[in-house]
Amino acid sequence: MEFNLESSFSQIINALSQIIALENHQRIFHAWRVAVLATEVARKITPEDINQVFYASLLHDVGTVSLDNGIRPQLSLDQQRAHPVIFAHPVKGARIVQEIPGLEQAAEIIMDHHERWDGAGYPHEKRNEDINIGAQCLRIADSYDFCLQDNPRLDYEQSMKQLGEQKNKEFCSSVYEAFSEVLAHNEYCREISRDECLEEAVVELQQSLPRLQCPDKSDVIGITLRVFARVIDAKHLYTSGHSQRVSQYAMLLAEALHLDHDEISRIKWASLLHDAGKVAIPQSILNKPGPLSEEEFALVKRHPETTADIIKYIDVFKNLVPTVRHHHEHFNGRGYPDHLESQQIPYLSRIITVADAFDAMTSPRPYQRMKSIHEALAELEQQKDSQFDGEIINQAKEVFTALTV
Ligand SMILES: [Fe+2]
Ligand SMILES: [Fe+2]
Ligand SMILES: [Fe+2]
Ligand SMILES: [Fe+2]
Repeated sequence: MEFNLESSFSQIINALSQIIALENHQRIFHAWRVAVLATEVARKITPEDINQVFYASLLHDVGTVSLDNGIRPQLSLDQQRAHPVIFAHPVKGARIVQEIPGLEQAAEIIMDHHERWDGAGYPHEKRNEDINIGAQCLRIADSYDFCLQDNPRLDYEQSMKQLGEQKNKEFCSSVYEAFSEVLAHNEYCREISRDECLEEAVVELQQSLPRLQCPDKSDVIGITLRVFARVIDAKHLYTSGHSQRVSQYAMLLAEALHLDHDEISRIKWASLLHDAGKVAIPQSILNKPGPLSEEEFALVKRHPETTADIIKYIDVFKNLVPTVRHHHEHFNGRGYPDHLESQQIPYLSRIITVADAFDAMTSPRPYQRMKSIHEALAELEQQKDSQFDGEIINQAKEVFTALTV
């Protein structure tokens, strides 16, 4: 696979930040606005860290992916501290981001992004200079956006007055002064209170930043994608580990079916990402024990297209778009989204479908009892040539039976 490592890497991080916000578009605007503002503040306060502040801001609330609505601006500090997911999200987010090569410092920023200058923040009640300075840049941008969400018409003076009440409490005075200058002198920082200007501002800013130093590890993209998969699976309790397991099963099948090296890589990445669009489905629907209503099912059925929409912006994964789009087609044409049948369905999608169904049957799900490997194989056999490609099932029996020994 030919690719430019740095640009692929930043495209994947961008896609990851969009995943977090899929269900609620306000969340992506929030992340983008915080990224632009915090980076401009960092340019004045800690210029050597602007890259890390930018990526930390894009991903700062990754630890709240399991919350349908993220953090609402109306929540008081006490309410945030009392909420188990919100209280833990800086630690959870830092742990996730720490694993992405080159973003270790961004992880430290995320860890401290709810600490306050006066020591009343969370999770570690750090104070003053003990707090990462990049996190303070993020803190003020985060607070400003909450003020804007409360009152979108706030002008410069009103915003600075409101934020001024938190000077030396939530953030230090130098960060406040820097923010005030950013807002007063950067026209585009004022413009970005309008959502429609945001995407362009983020792209421009990202292109102007010094290149992220990707460590010289051979598998930067692989490691980042596995983190990506974990974030996807973290949205819903029962999907924990699903993407990673589907990827492993699909690779075992691909090897047994003698696919070449390139195709095996493609199936590995496509399966890690196949359910990215599921993040857009509210927990109440995916965790529902009973049957879904028509509208609910329609929402679930949109996820392969949503996945395709997200990964088409990652240049190196453009060729995976058909594979992920068709992972719920049935061999008899009764699947979705395009009702393709037999050979019309991309071969790699047909393999992923089998790996996906096998994992769904052998993992606990709210709507069904977990099956043993033998029960799952019997069910795959039963659906041979209706839901699944019979030839792949023949191979799957051997591959999956070997898992029991
Ligand atoms: Fe946060
Ligand atoms: Fe935030
Ligand atoms: Fe799926
Ligand atoms: Fe799946």
